[in-house]
Amino acid sequence: MANLKTTFAGIQAPNPFWLASAPPTDKAYNVERAYEAGWGGVVWKTLGEDPAAVNVSSRYSATYDAKGQVVGFNNIELITDRSLEINLREIEAVKKHWPEQALVVSLMVPCVEESWKRIVKLVEETGADGLELNFGCPHGMPERGMGAAVGQVPDIVEQVTRWCKLHSRLPVIVKLTPNITDIRFSARAAKAGGADAVSLINTINSITGIDLDQMVARPIVDGKSTHGGYCGPAVKPIALNMVSEIARDPATFGLPISGIGGISNWRDAAEFIALGAGSVQVCTAAMIHGFRIVSEMKDGLSRWMDSKGYEKLEDFRGLAVANTTDWKYLNMNYKVVANINDDSCIGCGRCYISCEDTSHQAIAKLPQPDGSNRYQVIEDECVGCNLCEITCPVSACITMEQREADKPYLSWIHDERNPHREVGH
Ligand SMILES: Cc1cc2nc3c(=O)[nH]c(=O)nc-3n(C[C@H](O)[C@H](O)[C@H](O)COP(=O)(O)O)c2cc1C
Ligand code: SF4
Ligand code: SF4
Repeated sequence: MANLKTTFAGIQAPNPFWLASAPPTDKAYNVERAYEAGWGGVVWKTLGEDPAAVNVSSRYSATYDAKGQVVGFNNIELITDRSLEINLREIEAVKKHWPEQALVVSLMVPCVEESWKRIVKLVEETGADGLELNFGCPHGMPERGMGAAVGQVPDIVEQVTRWCKLHSRLPVIVKLTPNITDIRFSARAAKAGGADAVSLINTINSITGIDLDQMVARPIVDGKSTHGGYCGPAVKPIALNMVSEIARDPATFGLPISGIGGISNWRDAAEFIALGAGSVQVCTAAMIHGFRIVSEMKDGLSRWMDSKGYEKLEDFRGLAVANTTDWKYLNMNYKVVANINDDSCIGCGRCYISCEDTSHQAIAKLPQPDGSNRYQVIEDECVGCNLCEITCPVSACITMEQREADKPYLSWIHDERNPHREVGH
């Protein structure tokens, strides 16, 4: 059986599945039950200075797929609304009872050295394993000069990270905001400040929908609303891209990354690890389905690793990084075409409509004697865009097949159709 043991930024855990800083980790009752369920670690819900934050009612909204499953989750909650003292006391007790599991504490205080110095010392005294600096909360806290207001300014990211490293011996993980143009700048700043790791993503600025009767966005607080932070499966592609950007940036190469954003099952986790993540964090999936999902995550990941011959996480960690490159390095001479399997085709015509109306008119509709239609790809017209494969409702009915390249690898950099091509290399 594959070994899921994890060492992330010097922090040991029985597995890479950690609960992200959020309601699932905001008190001892939750965290202890999460450990019992098998989570390898938690990042305690963000602590701040007293007086504790005060939350509004209501707080969450969501987007759904056609079957009613949550695809995106939105919240306007603030950091912990319990006192610092209670949180610290509980953290100390939980760590004592659960020495093997990772316990990282998320922090957010004003951008004043004394404030950071004071809180990191208090956390250190609890015996916690590490600190996570919340530079990402996108609502409420930025209006007070914290959260994303810090994460959006690389100089401040670097400064605060430096203070924490100076005043604490604990590993410092900097949690980044995705509400920024280029995530690499904040990751570089964290590294420059001495961060032991980065974690990403925090939530994305969002409005999930409008109540058209009340003419107000959701969630509704006495007839008004505000933008929230988006998370859940819908944000996974954005998170994966940002993780890959940092993993393949020479300036941050090798900096440990904790992957967060839409992780709902073992496969999602494996994808983040393949892009270089050393641990993964989960929030929405646990909030929607409960703590028990971790059993399937651990089991699925171990089984898949066994099937691939990977004995430990390091055996496949980062293997997809080198294959994630800039567009200009892709092979211009590589060619795939769509192929329709007549045996599984149900004749719905969706592929034809999408290719005919919006792509390359590369699917022929052939009327049959019985009044039905047969659909056939016109290979010479097909550019291999994948649209019909994506549109087809029948699994594996349309497959993309590689055609033998009659020319060697050629990147756009050297392609003669590129007016700015490099010549003579
Ligand atoms: C209700 C709620 C509260 C959250 N509170 C915090 C917080 O206090 N500190 C923090 O760093 N992130 C917070 N987050 C963000 C999560 O830790 C995580 O970064 C984000 O939800 C993406 O992961 P997911 O797609 O698995 O939910 C919160 C998320 C939700 C849904
Ligand atoms: S891959 Fe694109 S171009 Fe080719 S048949 Fe399908 S939709 Fe048309
Ligand atoms: S979308 Fe799929 S099932 Fe429908 S006609 Fe095209 S190939 Fe057949």
